[in-house]
Amino acid sequence: MKKNRILIAEDDVSLKRIMEYTLADSGTEVFSFENGKMALDFLKENEVDLIISDLAMPEITGMDLLRAVQKTMPDTLFIMITAYGTIETAVEAMKLGAYDYLTKPFSPDELSLVAKKALSMKSLVEENRILKTQLVEHYSFSNIVGKSDKMKEVFDLMGRVAQTNSNILILGESGTGKELVAKAIHYHSKRSSGPFVAVQCAAIPVTLLESELFGHTKGAFTGAIKDRKGKFESADGGTIFLDEIAEMSPDMQAKLLRVIQEREVQRVGSNLSFKVDVRIISATNQNLSKAVEQKRFREDLFYRLNVISISLPPLREKKEDIPILIKHFLKKFGQPDCQIEKEAWDYLLSYHWPGNVRELENVIERALVLKKGEIIMKDALPENILKSDKKIGGIVMDLPESGINFEELEKELIRLALKKYDGNQTQAAKFLGLSRPTLVYRMEKYGL
Ligand SMILES: Nc1ncnc2c1ncn2[C@@H]1O[C@H](COP(=O)(O)OP(=O)(O)OP(=O)(O)O)[C@@H](O)[C@H]1O
Ligand SMILES: [Mg+2]
Repeated sequence: MKKNRILIAEDDVSLKRIMEYTLADSGTEVFSFENGKMALDFLKENEVDLIISDLAMPEITGMDLLRAVQKTMPDTLFIMITAYGTIETAVEAMKLGAYDYLTKPFSPDELSLVAKKALSMKSLVEENRILKTQLVEHYSFSNIVGKSDKMKEVFDLMGRVAQTNSNILILGESGTGKELVAKAIHYHSKRSSGPFVAVQCAAIPVTLLESELFGHTKGAFTGAIKDRKGKFESADGGTIFLDEIAEMSPDMQAKLLRVIQEREVQRVGSNLSFKVDVRIISATNQNLSKAVEQKRFREDLFYRLNVISISLPPLREKKEDIPILIKHFLKKFGQPDCQIEKEAWDYLLSYHWPGNVRELENVIERALVLKKGEIIMKDALPENILKSDKKIGGIVMDLPESGINFEELEKELIRLALKKYDGNQTQAAKFLGLSRPTLVYRMEKYGL
């Protein structure tokens, strides 16, 4: 373990000796000096964790030393020793950034207690800093894997919006990484040291969502046995992630709109409002514009939430990312060098992944458990992937239980073929294996 390093500056030589003796133990190295100048010279070349300095010393005083240290090594803690009856100077030292002070005369116990407190504080701060960097790394963009053009666009947009305060709407099917992206944006924003609070709007009963988001006062409703903070208050200074926003009731939509407009919240059962400083990132796997068209979602709220939107592509539209995603998950599950046999690869690459990246992650985790030898063979893959070999004319077909409308399908195929060739009927007809007059006849039939 690393030793704590304490510097003592004290011109009373006998007191200095007592202090050395008190503080020295197996876990601590003590450097002591009988004037400020020597202490300062030492600090130019060396780092310490804690400085305990007398205030009144000739030439360079304790206050001079504190100022110099604050400038060059602000992380070093400083304890000022003052004479009895000079509390004002102690206060001034604290204002300048000293961590604590000791008044003469003090006992060895007092000294070691104050020093211990300071050192444990220092290690807490350091630990916290390490944890924070780990957290940032964990949700750094580098933890979101993808090199397809669609993902490059996503990364680019994320980089540009992270530093702003704009509300963001993340769209994408289930399992495409919406929450992952929301966290990465938060940890790359100016709010990264503030909280990231996620709310699953659909998982909370309608009647409880308001109190969950905005809090309540004691007695506001049956079961409200004490005052409770809402998620918005908890997210103050940070980001709130409203997941599955499309599921919000009209009543809640109105209340949320009010909070966005006024930037303040009111606990259920209270008529007091208070300011909150929160960035909203919302997400949905539904077509929110359509919900607006159908009047299921308020248009004004939609525009407030959707200042910037990020669309995450489904996995089947970024198949070129499958190999690096698989590599990423093999590493995540502790077997980075595990190989996958050719036939199993073919299944993984041709499957249409309705559950997107989450499904892929689960499949890899499962395969690592079920594989019989060193290599992942096709028998370690789930039945639905092995059965999904339903390629018809190069298209993966997943026939729904509910049956299909053949004419709709035909119409959609014609539409897609025309789109593919920018409306060129000759090319579209060739692509569909039809003559041009047949194509025109069908286009007229379907009013295309
Ligand atoms: N590009 C990616 N790189 C690495 N991991 C990813 C990526 N996209 C998604 N994942 C992983 O897939 C899983 C699902 O992601 P996440 O929970 O963010 O999806 P979601 O869109 O919020 O899904 P849902 O709509 O079901 O809530 C997570 O374990 C996430 O880490
Ligand atoms: Mg999610």
